Amino acid sequence: MKNVAVIGSQWGDEGKGKIVDWLSNKADIIIRFQGGHNAGHTLVIDGTTYKLRLLPSGIVRKNKISIIGNGVVIDPWALLEEIKEIKSKGVEVTPKNLIISETANLILPFHKEMDEMREDLAKKEKIGTTRRGIGPAYEDKVGRRGIRLMDLASEKNLENRLANALSHHNLIRKGMGKQIFQNDNLKKDLLKVAPEILKYAQPVWKIIDEYRSKEKKILFEGAQGVLLDVDHGTYPYVTSSNTVASSAATGSGCGPNSINYILGITKAYTTRVGEGPFPTELKDQIGEHLGNIGKEFGTVTSRKRRCGWLDGVLVRQSIRISGINGIALTKLDVLDELDNIKMCIAYDLNGNKIDYLPSTLEDQLKIKPIYKTFEGWKTSTQGIKDFKNLPINAQKYLKEVEKFIGVKISSISTSPERNDTILIEDPFNF
Ligand code: GDP
Ligand code: IMO
Ligand code: MG
Repeated sequence: MKNVAVIGSQWGDEGKGKIVDWLSNKADIIIRFQGGHNAGHTLVIDGTTYKLRLLPSGIVRKNKISIIGNGVVIDPWALLEEIKEIKSKGVEVTPKNLIISETANLILPFHKEMDEMREDLAKKEKIGTTRRGIGPAYEDKVGRRGIRLMDLASEKNLENRLANALSHHNLIRKGMGKQIFQNDNLKKDLLKVAPEILKYAQPVWKIIDEYRSKEKKILFEGAQGVLLDVDHGTYPYVTSSNTVASSAATGSGCGPNSINYILGITKAYTTRVGEGPFPTELKDQIGEHLGNIGKEFGTVTSRKRRCGWLDGVLVRQSIRISGINGIALTKLDVLDELDNIKMCIAYDLNGNKIDYLPSTLEDQLKIKPIYKTFEGWKTSTQGIKDFKNLPINAQKYLKEVEKFIGVKISSISTSPERNDTILIEDPFNF
């Protein structure tokens, strides 16, 4: 049996959605296992664009099961809005093809407000979050005062759970000079949407177990990227979940031995949205060029993404931390017009050469990238579907990247379109 986990190897927006959609052709089940609607995954299929936030990227294909696992935090209103939006594009969403874990924690309006209040108050030290309430919702989950999907099934239970959560939040809100939240109002609002969401609720661990025994193929779809991981990323400028592949097991309810191949998605350059260290950031014309050609604007918040050269050191670190078996290199075409292309191969820290990202924020801000320069190919690679048809300089560049990061480039993406992808090694047949 072959199950595949897809994760981002940089700071998110690597093109996970495109690759998950492309690979989902070979999968039976597609599962999101962490994050929430901070994610924005874009699929382009025959010219039609789909932007997904909470729904797994397999939802657009017929006869596939899409699952939202227990590790995801769900804003019920955002989810219903997304379902409505995708249905309006002719995609079917029913309890037959969408299943949501009963134990997934909910993002409620006070989480979103807390996220916003903190960001506004922090001014210079702000994280630059997506302001969706992700952090506060995960805090409540770990603080054992979260409200889970099945809590919506009983009014009495919901009332108790809300009272518990609000006793905590209202105290903080009072301290911040904000109005307190009324249990009754929120309960009413939640009970109104409860049936719409509860119809998808199931014990996901059990369903996965059943599918596994039938040897169905599972594709685990990560959100964000390893450098935004709460443990392994550029802390505190990270998201509030573990984004590494092992999270696929805890976030859906199966063992780590259910994952047979870990595919890291890597952009041919680097982008980052929000604040935090970014050693290879380019604040010059080349950075602008990458942003313009790569259309680097956030799917969720429309913020301009910061752009820079490919950081081989960081990608190699992500590969080692999360056990990535091979990478899908995306957006190669964005480099087409450049005279020279650079990859960071080490850092200078106080005059010493180091080959990893130091752990303190202070050092992360201080390091200077050491680059290897490649000659550009100055011709279009857009839509190329065969490695042999890539310009020689592009082939050379890819081989060098592969050698440096130490794992195979198993696929290459040359445009946003689903099928403009070069397959080198099939993760499902590895
Ligand atoms: P995700 O969050 O990792 O799923 O990535 P996003 O969807 O947020 O951002 C990736 C963007 O790049 C999307 O607009 C994709 O349509 C686009 N994209 C993906 N692969 C390619 C590619 O190979 N070439 C180009 N030019 N665009 C791509
Ligand atoms: P996908 O799945 C890029 C970033 C935010 C911010 C930090 C914390 O589309 O790759 P949060 O709202 O999670 O508390 O914000 O993480 N961030 C992302 N950046 N892609 C994402 O998701 C992201 N999800 C969160 O910009 O810097
Ligand atoms: Mg995205």
